[in-house]
Amino acid sequence: MNKTGNPLDLREWLKRIDQIGELDHCLGAHPNLEIGAISQLNVKKENHKALLFDDIVGYPKGYRVLTCSTGSKKRLASILRLPSPNTHQDLIESLRDKPAEWLSKAKDFTPTPVSHGPILENVMQGDAVDLNQFPAVLWNKDDGGKYIGTGCSVVSQDLESGWVNVGTYRVMLQSKNKVGLMIIPGKHAHIQHTKYMDAKKPFPVVIILGADPLNYLISGIEVPFDVSEFNYIGAILGQPVEVIQGDVTNLPFPSAAEIVLEGWVYPGDQAPEGPFGEFLGYYTSGSSLASVVTVEKLYYRNNPIILGSPPSKPPNDYSYSKSVMRSALLFNSIVAAGVPNVQSVWAHEIGGSRMFNVISIKQKYAGHARQAGHILSQCGVGAYMSRYSIVVDEDIDPSNLSEVMWAVATRSDPVNDIDFIQRGVGSQSDPMSVAQTLKAPFASKAIIDACRPFEYLSTFPKVVDVSEDLEKHVKKKWPNLL
Ligand SMILES: Cc1cc2nc3c(=O)[nH]c(=O)nc-3n(C[C@H](O)[C@H](O)[C@H](O)COP(=O)(O)O)c2cc1C
Repeated sequence: MNKTGNPLDLREWLKRIDQIGELDHCLGAHPNLEIGAISQLNVKKENHKALLFDDIVGYPKGYRVLTCSTGSKKRLASILRLPSPNTHQDLIESLRDKPAEWLSKAKDFTPTPVSHGPILENVMQGDAVDLNQFPAVLWNKDDGGKYIGTGCSVVSQDLESGWVNVGTYRVMLQSKNKVGLMIIPGKHAHIQHTKYMDAKKPFPVVIILGADPLNYLISGIEVPFDVSEFNYIGAILGQPVEVIQGDVTNLPFPSAAEIVLEGWVYPGDQAPEGPFGEFLGYYTSGSSLASVVTVEKLYYRNNPIILGSPPSKPPNDYSYSKSVMRSALLFNSIVAAGVPNVQSVWAHEIGGSRMFNVISIKQKYAGHARQAGHILSQCGVGAYMSRYSIVVDEDIDPSNLSEVMWAVATRSDPVNDIDFIQRGVGSQSDPMSVAQTLKAPFASKAIIDACRPFEYLSTFPKVVDVSEDLEKHVKKKWPNLL
């Protein structure tokens, strides 16, 4: 194993994506709503690039915000250190077996502590800490405050075992040395926080506001309990993460991180937080009390970059990455459940990569399509919040909504081809649960079989289409037109 550490340098990654034409710049935007609006409009464009904001109104030149970092197959592959893909399917294929491999190797990649690194270029402590110098953003007009942490990673530790967790939880600016931290009950840092509060001890926290996006990509997914995301990231990189240990809390952070806040949540210290536009495109919860972090020590690089990743109506800043990661996990789960001839799976961004999922199969026997649809809807990775599960034939690309809905419109018979599941697994953050103020988050589910009926496969009307050869031929002959 290569013992050299990786400092998770965002600037090295920016160089790499600039070389492949995946980086754009925006100068002179206002942090109140303009950065949010530009980022949202950008992410909805086909072939959009990552956006680096500079000359932000009210802040020193060089103090930057990056958004849309994970939103294309090439950028995502580059973050995950996978080969550059031609299609979404290529990316899912190269990702499919990786999460299990990374998990099994994580124990071999304990972070490497170092004493130097770019994050130490500026260090302030106590009264000198001033978070107002950094461009905190008001992403959407009904948000309850300015958020300094969205594509961030929060490092915390278990009181008993010492296990270091790294999770993405939003961070709202409260004052020059205080931020609000919104951690949903059940998340790993919440479990750790509860132990400290029960013991009436301050909860030590480190918040990383920018680093190689691999850091926030992995801190934003469910790495199992007791496994440190830093080890998991080391397994992806094939080398340990190089970390500095903060001398206030002893918690680690990458040596090339952009901005790091180190401090404590004191027992009982809470303040109103939110509302905040969420990943399905709604304000599903209002303002509520959240933990306050008092920042004792601040570290930042010269001309620091905040990694922004605001949720909003999908497709949003990080929905593409969630679609790819969940599609790969679903694919593996469905194959493991014994469904043959699975061609492809896609968890659509519009459903927050949970509520609108599609599978394509090459039908082998009567009932095969229903089996695939029900397992897609109910397998471990899929059951939470799955609302619509759609099964299509192998000639349909599940990631192409227009093709999928064409299959639904032309190959399904509503009375016979839609199955319902009552009282399935829902969520408190489903806008339907919120609107109906459900006592428990049950949700009904539909499985739509949009495959040609198995018994009519040979007689089903032929598709009118341009053959692959003919397409190649005309594209070659009229390159400017097509
Ligand atoms: C950009 C982004 C923002 C997120 N914001 C929050 C948040 O504010 N609170 C929260 O509890 N989870 C949030 N999540 C989800 C958690 O990061 C995710 O569930 C992760 O697995 C939590 O880490 P843990 O498994 O170590 O608890 C967010 C995820 C992403 C990608």
